[in-house]
Amino acid sequence: MPEIDFAYEAERSLRRIRPKILDRIERSESSRFSFEERVEVIDARLAEHWERLFMLLHQLYGNHYDFFFYLENILLTAIDCWLNRPDDLYDLDIRRENDPGWYLSNNMAGGSLYVDLFSGDLPRLREKIPYFQELGLSYVHLMPLYASRAGNSDGGYAISDYRAVDPKLGTLEDLQLLAADFRAAGISLVLDFVFNHTSDDHEWAIQAREGDREHLDYYHTYPDRTIPDQYEQHLREIFPTVRRGNFTWHEELQRWVWTTFNSFQWDLKYANPEVFRAMSAEMLFLANTGVEILRLDAVAFIWKQMGTNCENLPQAHTLIQAFNSVCRIAAPGLAFKSEAIVHPDEVAKYIHRQECQISYNPTLMALLWESIATRQTKLLKQSLSHRHQLPRGTSWVNYLRGHDDIGWSFDNGDAWAVGINPDGHRKFLNDFYTGAFEGSFARGVPFQHNTDTGDMRVSGTMASLAGLEEAAEQDDKELREMALRRIRMLQGVLASIGGIPLIFLGEEWGLLNDYDYLEDPEKAEDSRWVHRPAMDWNIPKKHRGKKSTPGRLFRSLKEILEMRKALPALVGNQFQLLPVDDEHVLAYLRWHDASNLIVIANFSEKPRSVDLSFLRQEGIAHFLKDVFSQQTVSTKNECSLGPYELLWLEED
Ligand code: GLC
Ligand code: GLC
Repeated sequence: MPEIDFAYEAERSLRRIRPKILDRIERSESSRFSFEERVEVIDARLAEHWERLFMLLHQLYGNHYDFFFYLENILLTAIDCWLNRPDDLYDLDIRRENDPGWYLSNNMAGGSLYVDLFSGDLPRLREKIPYFQELGLSYVHLMPLYASRAGNSDGGYAISDYRAVDPKLGTLEDLQLLAADFRAAGISLVLDFVFNHTSDDHEWAIQAREGDREHLDYYHTYPDRTIPDQYEQHLREIFPTVRRGNFTWHEELQRWVWTTFNSFQWDLKYANPEVFRAMSAEMLFLANTGVEILRLDAVAFIWKQMGTNCENLPQAHTLIQAFNSVCRIAAPGLAFKSEAIVHPDEVAKYIHRQECQISYNPTLMALLWESIATRQTKLLKQSLSHRHQLPRGTSWVNYLRGHDDIGWSFDNGDAWAVGINPDGHRKFLNDFYTGAFEGSFARGVPFQHNTDTGDMRVSGTMASLAGLEEAAEQDDKELREMALRRIRMLQGVLASIGGIPLIFLGEEWGLLNDYDYLEDPEKAEDSRWVHRPAMDWNIPKKHRGKKSTPGRLFRSLKEILEMRKALPALVGNQFQLLPVDDEHVLAYLRWHDASNLIVIANFSEKPRSVDLSFLRQEGIAHFLKDVFSQQTVSTKNECSLGPYELLWLEED
């Protein structure tokens, strides 16, 4: 192919599309802005972002004979959505354009929840805003609340209509009101962008089933097993206990459909530029309801190529960057959060200002549980030493538990480097967390045990995995004390290590596993429901301010989040491990401008004593003070740590 002069071609195509853009602005109504003002704004954005979008789309779709047709439609779709953007979001866009790193603030703290399980519905969720504020949350992720298929919908991840709210939860208007109230309260609304697949009863799938060829081409379908079998040689299975393979035979279609997850979740075919255009419209529709952060679901799987494992392909990155670029033009207030639960090297590749500005940190999540099980911090340190620092302008989202399982996705090389056999270790961790290891304090449940490969993941709530369920079973004070300390230490690390701490609501009161899912035929096969208990609002009523277990947990988390906001060293993501010579202890330095914070955490139930004299060479003050207890520590003396003790040391 001849060399392409992108700057020239982008400019030339924009010149051809521009009359249509002007025409649309002319026809749109705005009481606030004149035609000229609108043109000025969009011209500036296009000057900054069009060439890049053009290039990305050309990489993906340049080989289509009708490329320009798609290019024009994609840009005009973005323009239409931009013109529909409500005024307050239009203002938000301008604020965010002036403050692109807003999510790096130490004010950021997140929570996620299922609307039905937490408050019942959206109107009642609005009444919980004071509760989120009390806890100090600035970001709330609502699990998928869209219209989804009847029966099993994978917890809402099988979406039938991105533009409709599940009627059990409320209406679109309720969602818009909630978003506006959130924004007024300083809380960003986070929703899922489930763009890898639709439900089998989404309008596009229905049209495909009715024989519409254009819509059939939205999905990967095959008349017989020839091609699926070729692909299958290299693919993993995500839900092997529910169903084998990655393709589902569809009677009505008389074709095999690509379904990476459940058989009713049809993977979209992004090699078709029309799918990109259509999903851009859905994405911007969500942006215009008031979403500030979109959680990009299952990013690893969105591009397929024969002969590969169809995960984390280069085109997946190009595609997400193209979506990001569309947002910069039509809804620049929006940020992307990547959900890539894959090898840490691959997780990192999605994190970039021009791709996903923030990302779940599944490696840290898994390794915190690993360290809690082993009481050893060597693997955690090994991983943190070269994987934690992120590029400027991006951030981790750190969590202990979410709605999904725990997979031991650490790097094998990291394990070998510290003398650990990775496969044996994964087996140990699965045993430890699912009751097969004697003496374990954890109460977890196996998830997706693949008997062919031996792979297994783990379900369980934070409190049950950290020992509170065992303590409750045995009604043992000592065990309870240890579990509470363990949790506080973990949360204190989470809130200080660099990135946005994210709790799965219910954690703040230590909700235990809920085994009722076994009675529900739609849930019984999916053990992730064990860690999705319904919120019991009698707990706060009864325990707020009390010395009880839930009361202590709530206060402790609140204190940690308050303290996080008060410490300037916790802005951004500057991070350095500190060479404390103790296998049970983790220590690191966080800094921003002239502020330093030293965090020291004991991962064992044994008291430890550590030498901090090396800090003197680091130019750190000789006297430090723990921000929680106000106790002073001198770098001249040994610093003693109680069981699971956590210190946040400021220069005194
Ligand atoms: C993501 C979700 C998970 C869901 C899957 C398919 O991994 O977190 O809950 O099952 O995508 O949408
Ligand atoms: C995700 C991950 C997988 C996870 C699943 C949801 O995208 O790849 O590890 O467990 O989907 O359960």
